[in-house]
Amino acid sequence: MIRSIAFLFLIHLALVLCEEGNPCCSQPCQNRGVCTALGSGAYECDCTRTGYYGQNCTTPEFSTWLKVTLKPYPNTVHYILTHFKGLWAIINKIPFLRDGIMRYVLTSRSHLIESPPTYNSEYDYKNWEAYSNLTYYTRTLPPVPRDCPTPMGVVGKKELPDAKQLAEKLLLRRRFIPDPQRSNLMFAFFAQHFTHQFFKSDMKKGPAFTRAVNHGVDLGHIYGEDLARQHKLRLFKGGKLRYQVVDGEVYPPLVSEVGAEMHYPPHVPESKRLAVGHEAFGLVPGLMMYATIWLREHNRVCEVLQEVHPDWDDERLFQTTRLILIGETIKIVIEDYVQHLSGYHFKLKFDPELLFNQQFQYQNRIASEFNTLYHWHPLMPEDFHIEEEVYSYKQFVFNTSILTDHGVNQLVDSFTNQIAGRVAGGRNVPAAVLMVSIKSIENSRQMRYQSLNAYRKRFNMKAYTSFEDLTGETEMAAELKEMYGHVDAVELYPGLLVEKPRANGIFGETMVEMGAPYSLKGLMGNPICSPEYWKPSTFGGQVGFQIVNSASLQRLVCNNVKGPCPLASFNVPDVKDAGSATINSSTAHAATSDVNPTVIIKERTSEL
Ligand code: HEM
Ligand SMILES: *[C@@H]1O[C@H](CO)[C@@H](O)[C@H](O)[C@H]1NC(C)=O
Ligand SMILES: *[C@@H]1O[C@H](CO)[C@@H](O)[C@H](O)[C@H]1NC(C)=O
Ligand SMILES: *[C@@H]1O[C@H](CO)[C@@H](O)[C@H](O)[C@H]1NC(C)=O
Ligand SMILES: *[C@@H]1O[C@H](CO)[C@@H](O)[C@H](O)[C@H]1NC(C)=O
Repeated sequence: MIRSIAFLFLIHLALVLCEEGNPCCSQPCQNRGVCTALGSGAYECDCTRTGYYGQNCTTPEFSTWLKVTLKPYPNTVHYILTHFKGLWAIINKIPFLRDGIMRYVLTSRSHLIESPPTYNSEYDYKNWEAYSNLTYYTRTLPPVPRDCPTPMGVVGKKELPDAKQLAEKLLLRRRFIPDPQRSNLMFAFFAQHFTHQFFKSDMKKGPAFTRAVNHGVDLGHIYGEDLARQHKLRLFKGGKLRYQVVDGEVYPPLVSEVGAEMHYPPHVPESKRLAVGHEAFGLVPGLMMYATIWLREHNRVCEVLQEVHPDWDDERLFQTTRLILIGETIKIVIEDYVQHLSGYHFKLKFDPELLFNQQFQYQNRIASEFNTLYHWHPLMPEDFHIEEEVYSYKQFVFNTSILTDHGVNQLVDSFTNQIAGRVAGGRNVPAAVLMVSIKSIENSRQMRYQSLNAYRKRFNMKAYTSFEDLTGETEMAAELKEMYGHVDAVELYPGLLVEKPRANGIFGETMVEMGAPYSLKGLMGNPICSPEYWKPSTFGGQVGFQIVNSASLQRLVCNNVKGPCPLASFNVPDVKDAGSATINSSTAHAATSDVNPTVIIKERTSEL
């Protein structure tokens, strides 16, 4: 009798435990407190240095309370930075104000990123393997524990919606929605080209792994990810990279000549297989165009350096040029690319010295979530307008002839004039790349991502309280509700793409508030930004340092095309701009005068 009662009791206990599951599944610890399950349904929140205390790290210390009370909402800050143009025009001209604000932008953003990194997709607790194994992307939020009642923890349905149906209902483009910030294809392909140096998933091992083990801006997409590939691509003369000349212009060399393998489908003839640092850049002419521009820039800078240092050998010219190109890249990304994307009237500044008196770690680890959020395939148009031709996806992908037939000059002109799609707001992924979105959803599930709302809280935003709150409308909200049941169960990637965009913005709040910290940390965490590196001698002296500090997209193009160079920008030109006959690289923000080629804007009715 007693034994059977004890037995029943044990069964009961087991059921309770089973029902309760892992207490960390409900993510009880707030404000970045760390949850540890203690067995028998108990848990402990470690609130150390969060600025909060209490069972769930919810009670603020006084100083935290003060900070939080005074701190404006991200949307307010965004509003201020994107309005009051006249005021910003004044602030931008007052160095100490501009520096102070830029310093605040850099520190407030990068403080949201753990450095050194912590978790990865395999480990939801800190350990040496997760820290030291560079073949993993890191994780900002640990994976949802395996023993949770639902895929998102405790909320939502037991099964997530079918990825294909979800993508077709909410992500697939019905009609092309142009980006109200007027981003163009020059922007879209820059984004793809630049980010693929550090988003290089190792699909043989799975989506949690990367082949870009430097985790940052190393220009591995130009020079190859390892020494063997780099050596295949190098000329070993004057520091230069190997190239070929087609119709009097410099292009990347052929695979058959250099032996650096590339991914091309069988139908691409040997004579069209161009070889560059990144194996996959044969995919679209936009990538190959940027690869060509950077190759020409590398060889150009080598010549500049050789003139100053006639005694330098090939190795030193190559290595120093690489550092200069890394510097140019970061300069262009901050002052042209992020500047465009932000929509800020505040003028961003690339100046590593701003961080020299701050607490800042010169290291970086690429997070899986950063890769996921950067799947900006809605940028892609329905087809590609180059000179008088219109190319379908079928004609465009893996077609390197488009680059060599039209030339860099014409591609820059055409890509600058074709508007890109809006990323947030839902239903704008072109059918041609919908598979990538589906894959992205499946990969996120395999890696057990936490919900959109969990990420919003992690990056100092308020969780969305309803589906309408998330999408800002009712139709997609209703679809989402049917699929997910609870707004706290909406997944990160679909959430980012259906989120209500900011007023006249390409993205919603979450994309910007999550993306900016990863981005700025990755750019400023580069070794060249550290005090011992950031000086002229690192870049071969004043001449090299000057190339870095005066870099802009417009200059990069002008220095590397023959004849009059086309307008190069990350947004389609205003109709009113097209009226003024010429601009030149001194109208681009980075004004110095070692070159000053004339830019000719061609009249062209924009798509808007
Ligand atoms: C015609 C244009 C494009 C095509 C055909 C294309 C195609 C693809 C494909 C097939 C993948 C691999 C998907 C997988 O197996 O998981 C991919 C990944 C990706 N794409 Fe695109 N894409 C295009 C444009 C873009 C653009 C404009 C961006 C802008 C940022 C972008 C960002 C990414 C990112 C971040 C990844 C993940 C890379 C990785 O994890 O290694 N793509 N894309
Ligand atoms: C902490 O969170 C748990 C689970 O969400 C809740 O039951 C409990 O009441 C919370 N404790 C406090 C002090 O708020
Ligand atoms: C990193 O982890 C993966 C997966 O466990 C393993 O295959 C690989 O050998 C590890 N790499 C190193 C350098 O330890
Ligand atoms: C590739 O582009 C060229 C134009 O440069 C075009 O003539 C050709 O038809 C395209 N190839 C394919 C397979 O569509
Ligand atoms: C460059 O353009 C600006 C503005 O249009 C103009 O004032 C300046 O004279 C031009 N400089 C040269 C060298 O053409």
